[in-house]
Amino acid sequence: MHILFVTSEAVPFCKTGGLADVSGSLPPALAKREEDDVAVILPLYGQIGDEWREKLTFRKYIYVDLAWRHEYCGLFSTEYQGVTWYFVDNERYFRRSRLYGEGDDGERFAFFSRAVAELLPHLEHMPQVVHCNDWQTAAVPVYLKDFAVRRSEYKAVRSVFTIHNIEYQGWLEPGAVGDLLGLDRGWWNDGTLRMGDGVNLMKAALLTADAVTTVSPTYARQIHDSYYACGLEKVIDTISYKLTGVLNGLDTRSYSPRNKKAIPLCYSYRNLFGKTVCKEELQKQLGLVQEPDTPVLAIVSRLVGHKGMDLVCQVADDIMASGVQLVVLGMGDAWYEDYFRAMQSRYPGRMAACITYSDALARQIYAGADLFLMPSKSEPCGLSQMIAMRYGTVPIVRQTGGLNDSVRSCQLGQKDGTGFVFARYDAGDMLCVIHQAAALYRTEDFAVVQKRGMREDFSWRRSAAAYRDIYEKLLG
Ligand code: GLC
Repeated sequence: MHILFVTSEAVPFCKTGGLADVSGSLPPALAKREEDDVAVILPLYGQIGDEWREKLTFRKYIYVDLAWRHEYCGLFSTEYQGVTWYFVDNERYFRRSRLYGEGDDGERFAFFSRAVAELLPHLEHMPQVVHCNDWQTAAVPVYLKDFAVRRSEYKAVRSVFTIHNIEYQGWLEPGAVGDLLGLDRGWWNDGTLRMGDGVNLMKAALLTADAVTTVSPTYARQIHDSYYACGLEKVIDTISYKLTGVLNGLDTRSYSPRNKKAIPLCYSYRNLFGKTVCKEELQKQLGLVQEPDTPVLAIVSRLVGHKGMDLVCQVADDIMASGVQLVVLGMGDAWYEDYFRAMQSRYPGRMAACITYSDALARQIYAGADLFLMPSKSEPCGLSQMIAMRYGTVPIVRQTGGLNDSVRSCQLGQKDGTGFVFARYDAGDMLCVIHQAAALYRTEDFAVVQKRGMREDFSWRRSAAAYRDIYEKLLG
């Protein structure tokens, strides 16, 4: 099978969130089967460092017509982890100070999507399955259907679209149909591109892709509900016959306490000594009081509302009163950033606010903390709770999306459970399970829960097989 994975970010080249982790680890997992040839295509951002640029081979260039625009489009590639990584070059669109958040994101990713569709016959193999991800690539399935009418080489191509987060849908002005996407007005009139008064790219992808997936079974059920679907619930109902929830895996080699990357001492579920050293170092580094027996509760997250930060702020003082040390790592809304900074001054030596983005520090926290808090309002999959468990850090999560599918609740008197779960989006309920977790920390059973979590299988093995099944069904 020839598979092309289309994404706007991928580890190790560039990353803003979980999509990059998935894009960096699912394709290599798929490529493990020899019959399959797997490639990934992404923009050649200015942020991609020289260490990678030196390894890129220039393949060719074409011109891409985006309505009245006639744009240069270079194609580079490199081989890595059994996968061909293609990069789309256009400096005007992709040499910017950041990956997203530019005023012309709509145009930048319309270009990327059209470029991908036009480039298919120029790749080493014409892909049979084109697997697109999130709104930035959502125009690709539309182009594939549009091209298939006139160009025979596109007729056999099948597309898959994965929703990593339904909140970001890719809205454009109605005029964009002809003026930017360069598509016939028919795509608007028949309701494919049209949503209310604007163009909604995610809606168009949901309708035109041959299969749709999202990143956990629970989220696949939840997005039928307007609370989660941000207006797309009716479309989700319409396409439910082709929608599947597949839980993400992790790069379990990279995220492992046996990988010495960034952590002071390695360990495994057989011997947690290294973890006590990691905790000592973490407390030292963050200026926390050196108390080996105080539970360290960590948050590694974007500091935004839907990650549940409002719950944390509502009961911040009660959390501290439960006798934990608190570590927060992340950036986001200025209000939360300021709140956590102020909290650090209120609780010197007991609370550390690291308002930054750092993969190395994140790993030190996963390794050095005891408890990991993730009270998301909605969470399509969530990777941090799985990473935390890999490092023996017991998660406290809200029962939603992928959190529900990856953490089993510790119930009193039962010999199962990998973490603590609360159901209602309520600060009091969250506080209650934080108290339970802090109480468990002080007993011998804590290590049992830690080790159970460390032994869970979060590899891509199962999920890659689920994607392969979807591809095979499409090819008949
Ligand atoms: C998005 C989602 C997150 C998911 C990730 C990878 O960032 O918000 O829940 O884990 O994509 O699929």
